Amino acid sequence: MPTNQANRRILITSALPYANGPIHLGHLLEYIQTDIWSRFQKSQGHECYYVCADDAHGTPIMLKAQEQGITPEEMVAKTGIEHKQDFDDFLIEFDNYHSTHCDENKELSALIYNKLNDAGFIAKRSISQLFDPEKQMFLPDRFVKGTCPKCGTADQNGDNCDKCGATYTPTDLVNPKSVISGATPVMKDSEHYFFDLPKFEPMLKQWLRSGSIQTEMANKLEEWFEQGLQQWDISRDAPYFGFEIPNAPGKYFYVWLDAPIGYMASFKNLCSKNGVNFDEFWQEGSDTELYHFIGKDIIYFHSLFWPAMLEGANFRKPTNVFAHGFVTVNGEKMSKSRGTFIKARTFLDHLNPEYLRYYFASKLNSGITDLDLNLDDFGQKVNSDLIGKVVNIASRCAGFVKKRYDSKLSDNVDNPELLAEFQQAKESITTCYENREFAKAIREIMALADKANKYIDDKAPWVTVKDDALQQQTHDVCSMGINLFRILMVYLKPVLPNMAAEVESFLNSELTWDSVDNNLTGHEINKFKALMQRVDMDKVAKMVDDSKDNLVATKPVVTGPLADDPIAAEIEFDDFAKIDLRIAKIIKAEHVEGAEKLLKFQLDIGGETRQILSGIKAAYTPEELEGKLTVVVANLKPRKMRFGMSEGMILAAGPGGKELWILEPHDGAQPGMRVM
Ligand code: MSP
Ligand code: ZN
Repeated sequence: MPTNQANRRILITSALPYANGPIHLGHLLEYIQTDIWSRFQKSQGHECYYVCADDAHGTPIMLKAQEQGITPEEMVAKTGIEHKQDFDDFLIEFDNYHSTHCDENKELSALIYNKLNDAGFIAKRSISQLFDPEKQMFLPDRFVKGTCPKCGTADQNGDNCDKCGATYTPTDLVNPKSVISGATPVMKDSEHYFFDLPKFEPMLKQWLRSGSIQTEMANKLEEWFEQGLQQWDISRDAPYFGFEIPNAPGKYFYVWLDAPIGYMASFKNLCSKNGVNFDEFWQEGSDTELYHFIGKDIIYFHSLFWPAMLEGANFRKPTNVFAHGFVTVNGEKMSKSRGTFIKARTFLDHLNPEYLRYYFASKLNSGITDLDLNLDDFGQKVNSDLIGKVVNIASRCAGFVKKRYDSKLSDNVDNPELLAEFQQAKESITTCYENREFAKAIREIMALADKANKYIDDKAPWVTVKDDALQQQTHDVCSMGINLFRILMVYLKPVLPNMAAEVESFLNSELTWDSVDNNLTGHEINKFKALMQRVDMDKVAKMVDDSKDNLVATKPVVTGPLADDPIAAEIEFDDFAKIDLRIAKIIKAEHVEGAEKLLKFQLDIGGETRQILSGIKAAYTPEELEGKLTVVVANLKPRKMRFGMSEGMILAAGPGGKELWILEPHDGAQPGMRVM
């Protein structure tokens, strides 16, 4: 990797988030990691671009839009705005944020496909797949559920069983059902287009061995090579939200074909705005650098399909692909019920985005192991490092400089050795950033912060300031403290851009990487303001609370009948089954002499006649009811009433009086049928 080399030209990407859901803290690990690296590269004076986009295509997005009653275009546009806002608020500084559903991507996808096709890398053949006959569409694996063929557990996904871990194809499922319509899928043939990945095996092996790819990734790839590469199905049949394949009506590019091309498309869109030469970054043999930051789940796409596609279409290949692990929260997979599936927006509602940037940075390295966001540790670490160490240095010195020394830093350097140590750390910290060893960089920075604090403790300016004879010394010490603080903030600037900006206005000086080599002397500074609040653990708790998938909270406000008469306590099925409800035919209905409210019924409940007295006289005339079907409680204990025996109960709804409606079954029900 070309470190320390001037004038590098670098294009950096993060994986394109799907446009059908909100950004969450898992995603943010990647965007924060990439953003820190991109800001770092820019701080080194390199020509660097960081681009991204929404991944807009595919079946899930199409179906979700249908569910919401909007077009996929509308949904994608709406989600794109939300994503962009979340990224802005987390200080993710893209040079361009685009969408894969754009003209640039349509053109580039067609171009790359045509080149691959012309070069003989596209094969066509018919395959048989599960088809939803009701919805009239082919079903991706995750839209089929059924009983596991191995262990017999019901309601399992189309590709693997949660219970026993078996993997299979959806056609192996027992009693498969379409998740979309509930229909039983049928097998249907259709012609598909395939990308001939195996032809690229020698190139891929060589490409992977020539670069400095992560060890874990190299191991995975070796495994995949051993298993043998397969042709890749790149087409999907209509209905599909995506780009139609050139000269293939009704056939669409599978979302993963055009998604990585979205990196190029977003960059092309940037070039049209800023005049950068697109080809210089993408043509074969380009000496610019190209890096993709991704999660470990999408390595296959980025280290096999994508380089092969680029090679086959005569474009340059990535310089490297950097995978990271997955975020867990409090040691477990993010979970909606535990409140640990935390959306970017929910975090922002309660906490400062730089807390998360710092915490992730303090734990990130160049490997692909998972990263745990332990919420207690998160609060403690941010408070002890940023507030207790870094901010503390400035807050202990700034007041004296302002009040006693006219807001001017001293002309002297009190401790040149200590200053030199802080300056010389630059080389190692630079290397850490370059190698994506952010945790190591942070450890070094915090070790320096400890030294600065110890220096101030030893010199105790709050004591010396009281002694007129020691004013020069106090001034020198406080100025030294501020300069050490300044150097630390240069090193932290890629991680904490907002705080760095505050510090720049406090110091009246820009925090550039080069500025570390100088000392600010005789320089006027501004009033010191609190740079960062402590993490309030109550707010962390509130954030978790707000993230809980809380059924009570999502229930609509109750108006109407339920407000006055809430649903009764839950019962077991057995309790319900004790009540024998039957269809009854009203053979005869009549007034009862002397009774104000009652009608008397003779009911056929399937070969048995019952007499029932019912208080519905205000709502019905006997003539209206004779011959109709209704529902009765057939096993209610008979009751002797003033006007005779009542052997059951007719079911009716309503508050009473005229507002009463008896139940009537749909056509076809027969007297005596049990109601369940
Ligand atoms: N759309 C594809 C990427 C196409 S790139 C040409 C996709 N989207 S995603 O929204 O599911 O994920 C976007 C990125 O976030 C991926 O790199 C993914 O690995 C990462 N993460 C999603 N959840 C994550 C965690 N819980 N932890 C860490 N990264 C995670 O994949
Ligand atoms: Zn199973």
